[in-house]
Formats: sequence, C-alpha cells, structure tokens
Amino acid sequence: MKLILLGAPGAGKGTQAEILSKKLGIPTISTGNILREAIKNQTETGLKAKAFMDNGQLVPDDVIIGIVRERLSQPDCAKGYILDGMPRTIPQAAALEESGVHFDAVVSIEILDEVIESRMTGRRVCGSCGASYHITANPPKAEGVCDVCGGALTIRKDDNPETVKNRLKVFHAETEPLKDFYAKLGILKLVEGNQPIEDATRDILKALGM
Ligand code: AP5
Ligand code: MG
Repeated sequence: MKLILLGAPGAGKGTQAEILSKKLGIPTISTGNILREAIKNQTETGLKAKAFMDNGQLVPDDVIIGIVRERLSQPDCAKGYILDGMPRTIPQAAALEESGVHFDAVVSIEILDEVIESRMTGRRVCGSCGASYHITANPPKAEGVCDVCGGALTIRKDDNPETVKNRLKVFHAETEPLKDFYAKLGILKLVEGNQPIEDATRDILKALGM
C-alpha cells in the first residue's frame, strides 16, 4: 500500500499517519519531521530549510525531492509507505511520477480554515521522538510528558498565528492544486477532517476499502 495524506496545516495528517502506520504495518515518511530532525542536528539540509520553515514557506523542491528519493530507497519502504506532507507542489508530485512511484490512493483530509487555529494553538509535540498531541482533543496521559518516550512536550516553532496564516496561504496556492492532479489519475479520496480523530480514521479506512 502506497498512500499520500494531503491536507492543510493542522488537518491531522501526522495524527492519522501515525495511527495508519501502526494499523497497516508500513512506515510513515513525514518530510516535516525529517526536516525538523535535520534542523535539530544542524545538518546542511537543516541549515538550508530552517528559514523557510520558520516563515511558513515551502522548502525548495530540489531539497525535498532529494530527501524523499533517498528515504524511499530504504529497505523498510519495500512493502509500502505513507507520505505525510509530501508532495506539496506539482513539481514534487511530477518528480514522484517520473521516478516510477505510483500510489494506491491519495487521501485529502478536508478541514475549514476556521478550525485550524485552535488545532495549532493546542498542539504539543515531543521534543525527543516527535509524537504529536493536542491539549484537549488528544491529551497525553501526564501533562507535558510524551506517552511514547517520556520526553518533554514542546510547542512547534511554526505554530504561532502569523506563521500559521502564511502556511495556510501557501497551502491554498501551492498544495491544493494537487487534488486536481490526483483526481485526474483517479486516485483522490476526500475525507472529512473536522470530526473526532477516531472517526476520521474510520472514514479513511473506509475510503481505502478496508
Ligand atoms: P509539516 O510538518 O508537514 O506541517 P504542516 O503541513 O503545516 O502540517 P502540520 O504538521 O502542522 O499538521 P498535520 O496535518 O500533520 O496535523 P496534526 O496531525 O499535527 O511541515 C512543516 C514545514 O516543513 C512546512 O511549512 C514547510 O516549510 C516544510 N515542508 C514540509 N514538507 C515539505 C514539502 N514536501 N515541500 C516543501 N516544504 C516542506 O494535527 C494538528 C493538531 O490537531 C494536533 O494537536 C492534533 O492532536 C490535533 N488533531 C488532529 N486531528 C484532530 C481531530 N480530528 N480533532 C481534533 N484535533 C485533532
Ligand atoms: Mg504534521
């Protein structure tokens, strides 16, 4: 199963990717998480990506395409994978097609712009393993502590309202056109994102015929 999760910032791509990855037994490849890890480790890619991410702009296509090609060649991707946050532009989608990567389904998690702010202001992420929570919709068992690894929960640097506004603008301009791109390939599925997490998971599985 090769799957893409599309959606605005805060739509729930990362949340659903984590759940589906466990259910389907395939890895999630999150370009956002890969880039945040690169920034933390101060790699060359991280240094290139930081300013773009802090401003809510997209990291250049060539950087992303390089990262993803490398990641997809790893042995754990042989049985399939879930892409979270990639592709985000038509050139990124075209690069995947040109590499001969074809997807079973592209799930677009649909959410209204108005809902996004409360999603972002309530999000907490683990500084160690990257697991994601929400203070009311998906709280950790102990406040401020990651259920998975015990790491400290932090607020993502790009979750301030001004940057969220930029990310949303970029989403509508650059990423939303991908829905047409994949509809033409006959693999686009629309799923309601503005409902409890487990209901969205159920609808995604239904859209995948599971
Ligand atoms: P990335 O990390 O991918 O951020 P994003 O697309 O803005 O999406 P988010 O991670 O903010 O949201 P999400 O949909 O994963 O939502 P989540 O599940 O966390 O990218 C960050 C940056 O990296 C980009 O701005 C760009 O600079 C760069 N980048 C990454 N990929 C790139 C690419 N391919 N090309 C170029 N640049 C790239 O949910 C949000 C919150 O809501 C959480 O707190 C969660 O618990 C909660 N929640 C989730 N579902 C529900 C629900 N159903 N009900 C209530 N709450 C919910
Ligand atoms: Mg995410």
